[in-house]
Amino acid sequence: PLGELARTPPMGWNSWNRFGCDINESLIRQTADALVSSGMRDAGYTYVNIDDCWAAPERDPQTKRLLPHPERFPSGIAALADYVHAKGLKLGIYTSAGTQTCARSMPGALDHEEIDAQSFADWGVDYLKYDNCNNQGRPAVERYQAMSDALRKTGRPIVFALCEWGENKPWEGWGDQVGGHLWRTTGDISDSWSSMTGILDQQVGLVEYSHPNGWNDPDMLEVGNGGMTDTEYRAHFSLWALLNAPLLAGNDLRSMTDQTRQILLNRELIAVNQDWGGIQGYQARDDGDVEVWAKPMSDGSVAVVLFNRGTTTATVTTTTAEVGLSKRGPYRVRDLWTGQQAQSDGTLRAAVPAHGAVAYRVSVDRHGVLAPLTTLGLGLPNL
Ligand code: GLA
Repeated sequence: PLGELARTPPMGWNSWNRFGCDINESLIRQTADALVSSGMRDAGYTYVNIDDCWAAPERDPQTKRLLPHPERFPSGIAALADYVHAKGLKLGIYTSAGTQTCARSMPGALDHEEIDAQSFADWGVDYLKYDNCNNQGRPAVERYQAMSDALRKTGRPIVFALCEWGENKPWEGWGDQVGGHLWRTTGDISDSWSSMTGILDQQVGLVEYSHPNGWNDPDMLEVGNGGMTDTEYRAHFSLWALLNAPLLAGNDLRSMTDQTRQILLNRELIAVNQDWGGIQGYQARDDGDVEVWAKPMSDGSVAVVLFNRGTTTATVTTTTAEVGLSKRGPYRVRDLWTGQQAQSDGTLRAAVPAHGAVAYRVSVDRHGVLAPLTTLGLGLPNL
């Protein structure tokens, strides 16, 4: 009902994971600059999303409109929208379907849906993350429908991201019904291995509910925030790409390391995430510490993530049949982190580092000139 604005999972940046309430307009401008200079915009990261704490604590007493926070956003949101639009980017904003936002820093939109949606549209906002705090116990469907109607009434195309933490299972139908383009499936991610893997566990079984313009959202990326190793961040990024998660970087783009940039700019994993078929990756094998995840691609190939939760290197093995590649081999295996290619008769295998992942794209190989797979998986980074 709100339009086909998320044919593939949204990509961009959000202020919350790294900055919390410590945000201001120069951070947003500098982030927009960094999206361009890092190459991220050209790789598909187009949304610059401002999270909680951007507005003044009280509405304008006369008009009842939200006011940009006078110290953090003195030039206003419309000026920021102009700035990011001029760079070929889009602006996202945040509020809650409650009386206040989650940080209780500003009024929420409950019972003010029309006037707030109109402000967002007037300012040139392209994306709304709509949270669930301070909701007064009122039914989620009503609250999210009211904002959906208000957004539609403005006539401006605005991506509608439901941040209801999966409490009422939006994927079972009401997320689509209220025009949500994506919906959170869990509580908040934090910058730790246990948080990331805990969220991953909660994605098993949700695969069938994800589709173009209606994505499961396992929350934003923590890549580059410092609480995990680069090996762990590569696993995080590989898995989020396979899950068709929105790829919203959550780090400081102005000062990221080369390793962080290279993770976020893995174009082959971005291509897996943005595949037009929009089929979410699923867990094909669970052997305790060792898991296999697979995503059918629209060109008939399969993206495979071999994942090792253990604390020592493990050999992870699967087969083309197990990941759903039913056609006859031989197969071509491409390592999406190293770019190495090899041939396989049907066995897929790699030595996967502790807390790491190896990502492959596997297709039928009609030429058969590549070296066998046993040569792969040995020269990986951080082994
Ligand atoms: C909730 C959301 C987070 C973030 C904060 C802001 O916890 O789930 O993603 O937006 O609110 O306060």
